[in-house]
Amino acid sequence: MAREEITVRSEDGAKRVVLTVDGEEASECWIIPLTIRVGVATVRMDGIGGVATKPEYRLKGYASRVLQRAIEEMIAGDAAITMLYGIPNFYHRFGYVTAGPEYGVFLHGVARDEPLPPGWSVREFTPQDFASVRRVYEKATAFATGAVVRAEGCRVWQKLLETPGSYPQDECWVAVSPEGVVEGYAWRARWCWSMRDVLEREFPDALSFGEVVAVTPGAADALLALCRRRTAEEGKGEALLPVPPDSLIAHAARYTDARAVQLYSANGGSMVRVLSVERLLRALEPELSRQVRQCGRKVAPCQITFRTELGEGALLVGEEEVRSARFSVQEQVEACTAGESYTIRLSQRTLARLALGFAPADDLCARLSEPLPEEAVSLLKLLFPVRYQHAYLPDRY
Ligand SMILES: CC(C)(COP(=O)(O)OP(=O)(O)OC[C@H]1O[C@@H](n2cnc3c(N)ncnc32)[C@H](O)[C@@H]1OP(=O)(O)O)[C@@H](O)C(=O)NCCC(=O)NCCS
Repeated sequence: MAREEITVRSEDGAKRVVLTVDGEEASECWIIPLTIRVGVATVRMDGIGGVATKPEYRLKGYASRVLQRAIEEMIAGDAAITMLYGIPNFYHRFGYVTAGPEYGVFLHGVARDEPLPPGWSVREFTPQDFASVRRVYEKATAFATGAVVRAEGCRVWQKLLETPGSYPQDECWVAVSPEGVVEGYAWRARWCWSMRDVLEREFPDALSFGEVVAVTPGAADALLALCRRRTAEEGKGEALLPVPPDSLIAHAARYTDARAVQLYSANGGSMVRVLSVERLLRALEPELSRQVRQCGRKVAPCQITFRTELGEGALLVGEEEVRSARFSVQEQVEACTAGESYTIRLSQRTLARLALGFAPADDLCARLSEPLPEEAVSLLKLLFPVRYQHAYLPDRY
């Protein structure tokens, strides 16, 4: 009888879950701790990557056991959700559900002599631009959904600092305003697997840019001109920019020859799973409060309880802010003297999709097994608007 054992080891700031058979490593996955933005909220998210079973050990249930162990480990940790980029029809077994489409803007009609907007210039990134580029990323993603919060010394920024002089392996350009300020950048980021193994393989006729970010329309126009120019110089037919539809880059593309795509998968691609309802609701408080404050109407105070197969959590909705229950839901219900109280029975999958703005809340609600009162649906629409969940390619794991 073979001796099978699963261990969890901390390595390089991440955790590696390994299944060994008679001491030999057979199957593994990585848990990568990250923080993502959901509007102004920041949510601890554990990414799952590097899921692999050695060919001779496949179809024996090993990857499944490794993933189950990883999920137990993550639930015992401090992340609110877990995400991954999945092969089709595999990860739903572990509670993951598609979190949103992949976005892309294709630029056509590329030319070597593409003019830049008057007064703007582009030049190759140098380490002196690092602080400006970081500022651009932070400003551009301050209200985004799915964007990773990057620490100064994180792996992605280290990779950027290695870019100067690395052409053709990699290149990054910055857009400089007429006043001499860096207001955007276009980074090929060819080192990351989602560029090398996905975009460059699936779209060989396009020149792909892993991360194109601008904080002003002028910078966005300048970067699109640069991407077109570089595409023509590299002898490719079109440029591919994987950017979300609510970015200034996607807006700028509307004024040019371009097509924007959203690629959906029923069960694969970018996927999400809730780890703790309570942790998720608590993390979302700042963004939910912002939605209440900016909705332009008076919201009647009420309580919403979310009951899932993972457990439950509650939100106290006030006129100015939304708070999650800090104590047991039963106590919360008893403490709530004013306002309506709604209980929503939904799967953790639907809750994850609501949180990330996967689809209109009323559409998600219409698919619940128990219909909700109209007022509850309109409240959920207010709190959980449609979003464009997107992690830039260098952050993917
Ligand atoms: C995908 C992979 C990790 C599965 O490992 P494994 O140890 O064979 O998986 P399991 O034995 O636990 O499979 C469990 C179930 O998933 C199914 N399954 C296995 N590989 C699958 C795949 N590539 N796609 C869809 N389903 C798959 C199996 O048929 C099995 O179904 P069953 O329980 O109904 O019989 C392994 O094939 C692998 O390493 N592939 C190459 C790397 C890779 O693609 N990793 C995933 C990156 S997101």
